[in-house]
Amino acid sequence: MNEMSSTGSVEKPVVIPIEAYVSEEYAKAEGERLWPKVWQIACREEELAKVGDYVTYDILDESIIITRSAPDRIAAYYNVCQHRGRRLTEGCGHANQFYCRFHGWSWNLDGSSREVVDQEDWDGALNDENLRLPEVKVGFWGGWVWINMDPDCEPLEDYLGPAATLLAPFELDKMRYKWRQWLYFPCNWKTALEAFNESYHVTASHPQLSRWVCYKHWSRAEGRHAHHGVAAPRGEGATGGSGLNSINVRGSDDPRVAVAEQLEELKRTLDTTTTDTLVNAAQRLVDELPEGTPAHEVAAHLMETAIREDAERGVQWPEMTHEQMEEAGFDWHLFPNSVILPGLTFALCYRARPNGHDPNSCIFDVYALERFPEGEEPKTEWIFEPDPTEEKWRLILSQDFGNMPEVQKGMKSRGFRGARPNPKEEVAVINFHRILAEYMGSGAPKPIV
Ligand code: FES
Ligand SMILES: [Fe+2]
Repeated sequence: MNEMSSTGSVEKPVVIPIEAYVSEEYAKAEGERLWPKVWQIACREEELAKVGDYVTYDILDESIIITRSAPDRIAAYYNVCQHRGRRLTEGCGHANQFYCRFHGWSWNLDGSSREVVDQEDWDGALNDENLRLPEVKVGFWGGWVWINMDPDCEPLEDYLGPAATLLAPFELDKMRYKWRQWLYFPCNWKTALEAFNESYHVTASHPQLSRWVCYKHWSRAEGRHAHHGVAAPRGEGATGGSGLNSINVRGSDDPRVAVAEQLEELKRTLDTTTTDTLVNAAQRLVDELPEGTPAHEVAAHLMETAIREDAERGVQWPEMTHEQMEEAGFDWHLFPNSVILPGLTFALCYRARPNGHDPNSCIFDVYALERFPEGEEPKTEWIFEPDPTEEKWRLILSQDFGNMPEVQKGMKSRGFRGARPNPKEEVAVINFHRILAEYMGSGAPKPIV
């Protein structure tokens, strides 16, 4: 099916039926066939720093408590009182017990029963075993805590497969939250996520970035997951560039100036995929390098300076070869619902979840990670920011957000023939639906006829 090239896969042109995006039955079936069977990112380990810290992770009708139950143990439980079913927690916080506010039953952090009010009334029928909070599998990778509701699931490392290997050199576990925001979005969770697992849209949707360089991208499946990276400049000649981890300038630009402007713009319009260290070092390039310095030397000088200055403040860069970076690419779709754009000292991440069984609504989380000096990590929390505007989400995300509900509306038109992703640049979209169909039993991409 896949014809591999040195950079990516080339798919046969396919059409993706709209069922997965718009059908209420399909959305409901996901609650049975997909979500209880897959590994999902529940939170970052840093959210559970102390014993008793907890996060509530909601997915459709399920709610799961993830907590640090002991200094060296993180556990997850179904968030349901074993008396008559009240939810025990919401949001995140700190607790020394899980207490039900309905009739006052409680549980210890290790999931064992702490108190049943008037337990003798049950005449011995309730015991330690049948009172325990039912556990959910947890896994750890990349600094995230993952959960899986399937007691017979494969280990997380196997589930991630080659994605874990290719992403390992970024040492994502060493990054901490820089900022995190979320909102409800009027589109299917897949429509939302697919605005971020390809970069084919960048030239049209983010026209201001075309001032630097427009690229074509390779895109490749890695088991259930998929990634993409820079293949070749689109249009006018350009030098340098491998996406987020290098610099991109047109041959006619002074690379010292272009790089500084580009990084400043990313800082201003996205506030991630670059760092203050890089921006500050880039701003000094015109003072530190003579006019006419070739782009690759400008890039090398910028990286050396940033690595040195980060080291001075206690931020170590991971050791990663150029080949490793090229192979990893800059954007990963981790099946089913996370997208991660890894950099050497930063990452931009997205997570999309259904909002109930309405196929036209989702919960969308966006967060930036960064390496900080130990003890200088910013204190962050989830900010609900319902207004999808440039003012609240900065320019780049507001441009992406502008597409998502319009796609959701458009797909329902009698005049729509189904989605026809680019067979080279949107392999991640095709792979997503191929894997999804294996879980769901329908909705697989079909050849265009
Ligand atoms: S429902 Fe929780 S104590 Fe009654
Ligand atoms: Fe975008």
